[in-house]
Amino acid sequence: MQIKNFFENYIKKESIFVDKRTLLPSYMPEEILFREEQLQEVANILAPALRLEKPSNLFIYGKTGTGKTISVRFILSSMNKVAIQSNLPLKYIYINCKLKKVADTEYRLIAQLSKEFGQELPPTGLPTDEVYNIFYKLLDQQKQMVLLVLDEIDHLTKKIGDEILYNLTRINVELQKSQICLIGISNNLIFAENLDPRVKSSLSEEEIIFSPYNALQIQDILRKRAAKAFKEGAVQAGVIEKCAAYSARDHGDIRRAIDLLRIAGETAERSGSSAIEINHLDEAEKKIESDKILNAAVNQPKQFQSVLYAILLLAL
Ligand SMILES: Nc1ncnc2c1ncn2[C@@H]1O[C@H](COP(=O)(O)OP(=O)(O)OP(=O)(O)O)[C@@H](O)[C@H]1O
Ligand SMILES: [Mg+2]
Repeated sequence: MQIKNFFENYIKKESIFVDKRTLLPSYMPEEILFREEQLQEVANILAPALRLEKPSNLFIYGKTGTGKTISVRFILSSMNKVAIQSNLPLKYIYINCKLKKVADTEYRLIAQLSKEFGQELPPTGLPTDEVYNIFYKLLDQQKQMVLLVLDEIDHLTKKIGDEILYNLTRINVELQKSQICLIGISNNLIFAENLDPRVKSSLSEEEIIFSPYNALQIQDILRKRAAKAFKEGAVQAGVIEKCAAYSARDHGDIRRAIDLLRIAGETAERSGSSAIEINHLDEAEKKIESDKILNAAVNQPKQFQSVLYAILLLAL
């Protein structure tokens, strides 16, 4: 078939998706299921910020895909709305420390924070002390409560050590008008154990653990998501259950389960089917697994790859 015909047919065909965005990582669900306890706990700890009293610093940890990021963002955006309505000087800053060019060096991170307060700093050149001084001044321009979320915080310390956290946790001593509260998030369960004890105790004034979802909880979350993403009847019986079972086999990573459902949908569509069948799901699972193994091998050092290659040559 000509490519042109293929595309013409493609746009005529009905999609099994109604709203594919609901299966993408950027989607914010209307409801966060099975996390009432943790959401309430985070809300209780951070609420004093609305009275401009500094909340305890908070450290949240749990395995990947357990709803940490989504829960914190949900609570903080609700708080932000209340603060705006009541005209309270609350500032919420979210930084994903895994992102390149944002948290690669102490300088870059403080420059990024300064940017949040409206001041652009040159990308390099100033001494770090000077950058800190500019940041302190910006913070202290007016009375305000700053809630700073450092997501994937283990990547920050891996890249630049834990001195930056020491400095951030001690910042309030330098400030006259403002206060800053740190919320660290990590899926590295032993991350805090390796921190300087002083940093550890100030960062984890409060700690909340997000435990993995079980297969039934994953099924419920997936069902809600599938109802938004796909046409009615486009998911065959047993697909959601098997998708949840696949992800519970690992440790209950909901992100992986949602990804798997999306890829199964794409596989079904590509094969011309009007519904996702179990075999589409199995195919999607194989694809995700092989991508994972391939990625792991590609990201290894050259020595590892050479040894792997030698083993393959011997085995073939
Ligand atoms: N309880 C829930 N209800 C509905 N959707 C959820 C729930 N928990 C997580 N999700 C969805 O799963 C995805 C992953 O969640 P999230 O990003 O919060 O995981 P995480 O714990 O931060 O993982 P990581 O440690 O890998 O960053 C998000 O896209 C979110 O929409
Ligand atoms: Mg996260």
